Amino acid sequence: MNSEKRIIDLNLGDKVNRIFYIKETEFRLRRDGRTIDGFLKISDGTGEIEAIYWDMPPSKVKQLEKMQFAQIDGQASRKRKDGELQINIKSITEGQKSLLQLEDFIPSTPFDIAELMEKIDGKISSIKNQYLRSLLLSFFQDPILRGIFRIAPAAKKLHQAYQGGLAEHTLNVAEICEKICELYPQINRDFLISTALLHDIGKLEEYQFEGVIEYTDKGKLIGHVVMGAEMVDAKIKMIKGFPEDLAIMFKHTILSHHGKLEFGSPKLPSILPAVALYYADDTDAKLNGLIGLKEQNKNIDKKWSEWVWWLERSFYLAEQDILDPNREELTD
Ligand SMILES: [Fe+2]
Ligand SMILES: [Fe+2]
Repeated sequence: MNSEKRIIDLNLGDKVNRIFYIKETEFRLRRDGRTIDGFLKISDGTGEIEAIYWDMPPSKVKQLEKMQFAQIDGQASRKRKDGELQINIKSITEGQKSLLQLEDFIPSTPFDIAELMEKIDGKISSIKNQYLRSLLLSFFQDPILRGIFRIAPAAKKLHQAYQGGLAEHTLNVAEICEKICELYPQINRDFLISTALLHDIGKLEEYQFEGVIEYTDKGKLIGHVVMGAEMVDAKIKMIKGFPEDLAIMFKHTILSHHGKLEFGSPKLPSILPAVALYYADDTDAKLNGLIGLKEQNKNIDKKWSEWVWWLERSFYLAEQDILDPNREELTD
């Protein structure tokens, strides 16, 4: 019996009978005007999956809308549309929240968050420019901001969309920037690493992430790029003697880190480190997003992914077999 299987380990036909966290619910009425199908997005600490409650009792709708944790009895099947795994629900009842830890049901970074924070702190103490170091400390030594940063996701969907994802992404971007500085000593390391560590700080206010990752109203209306620059501006004003021109360069680099107007940056990167930060950020976001896509598709027997909206193409998923140095050579 595989009823305790985690989402990441599910295979076609596996039965599940355990508690999941309900992230989303949607109810669709069929054309007959009577039959209701429930489409749920459920998660455990290893991932998320769609679960469908075909022809559900109408009396369950209200109950399900309010349910946070559910005991689900069901079986893994494939979606006809794209072959992805889903769970067909046989029965669903409320899971006892008092017995559960939210952290066990919400995906979180595979890395040790304390270690990630330690590495970020190490980067901060390596910054020689006193103004930049003070600015970084004003964020990372603030117990409330630090607490939120530790659990914040890097995104809602695209990359590192789990607890601790922001710390992981921030450190990755800073590490890519370190390499860039080694190759291009013309770029000021103190400045690039400092902007890397704060580039997505606006995400602390862009999302609410107790349980489900959701945009806040402010996040939807303003977005983390501008919110981050505002947060940095507020902290800079508290640092005595912070040079005005350095503040402008810093805010420019935060504001332009998405690289293009259509990606939410009100200004294009117009100084050397801002261009470097844009590429470093894009590198980690895209590679992490694609690695996640391959992971999601690993149990699906198909060579091409579905259309990936954020890259406007499908991805070939099976290059590993071709690139494997130990592959069996084809013989006639
Ligand atoms: Fe960003
Ligand atoms: Fe980023």
